[in-house]
Amino acid sequence: MLKDKKILLHVTGSIACYKACELANLLVKEGAEVQISLSDGALKFLQPAVFEGLTHKKALTQNMFACEPDCIPHITLAQKWADLIMIYPASANCISRLACGLSDDLFGAVFLANNFDKPVLLAPAMNSNMFAHPAVQENLKKLESWGTKILPTDEGRLACGSVGKGKLISPETAVEFIKESV
Ligand SMILES: Cc1cc2nc3c(=O)[nH]c(=O)nc-3n(C[C@H](O)[C@H](O)[C@H](O)COP(=O)(O)O)c2cc1C
Repeated sequence: MLKDKKILLHVTGSIACYKACELANLLVKEGAEVQISLSDGALKFLQPAVFEGLTHKKALTQNMFACEPDCIPHITLAQKWADLIMIYPASANCISRLACGLSDDLFGAVFLANNFDKPVLLAPAMNSNMFAHPAVQENLKKLESWGTKILPTDEGRLACGSVGKGKLISPETAVEFIKESV
C-alpha cells in the first residue's frame, strides 16, 4: 500500500522521538521512500546516522542553507517530492511554531509551501499538563482548521512518571493513519 510513496517524516525533540526510528523502519519495510527532517530539538536526542542507516537517505536538518544547492529545498520537498508529510513526534514547541506560521527553518517553510495539497499528519507527544494547556490546545485547533490531521494521543504512563494523555501513539498505529491518508 505504501510502495513508492514518498513520505517526509519530521521528527522533533520529544523524549518519545526514539519511536520515530521504528516508524521510519516500518515505512521503509512497507516500500515507502522516507525523507527524514530533524528539528533542532530532535538533534539533541538522536544522531542523523540512525535514520540514514534505516532510510538510506541523508537526514535533513533545519538549516535550509546547508541543503543541496541544486534546488530550493522547501519548495521541492513540499510541492514536488512529498506525497504525505508526517510530524512524529510533534513537540509543543513545534506545534506552536507551525501555528504561528514561522518559516525561519526548513520544516516551517515546507509547512507553508505545501498549502495542504498534500496530507499533513501531526502526532503530539508531551506531558499531560502541557498537552492540556490552552496554548497547545488552541494551536492544535488552529492547525486542524487549516487542514492538518491531528492524530490522537494515547493515555498511559509518560516518561516523566505521571499517567495521562499526551503519550505518543505507537509507530504501528502511526503507519495505519498514514495508510488511511496517503
Ligand atoms: C528530557 C527531555 C524530554 C522532553 N520531552 C518533551 C516532550 O515529550 N514533548 C515536548 O513537547 N517537549 C519535550 N521536551 C522539551 C523540548 O525538547 C524543547 O521544547 C525543545 O525546544 C523542542 O524543540 P523542537 O521543537 O525543535 O524539536 C523535553 C526536553 C527534555 C530535556
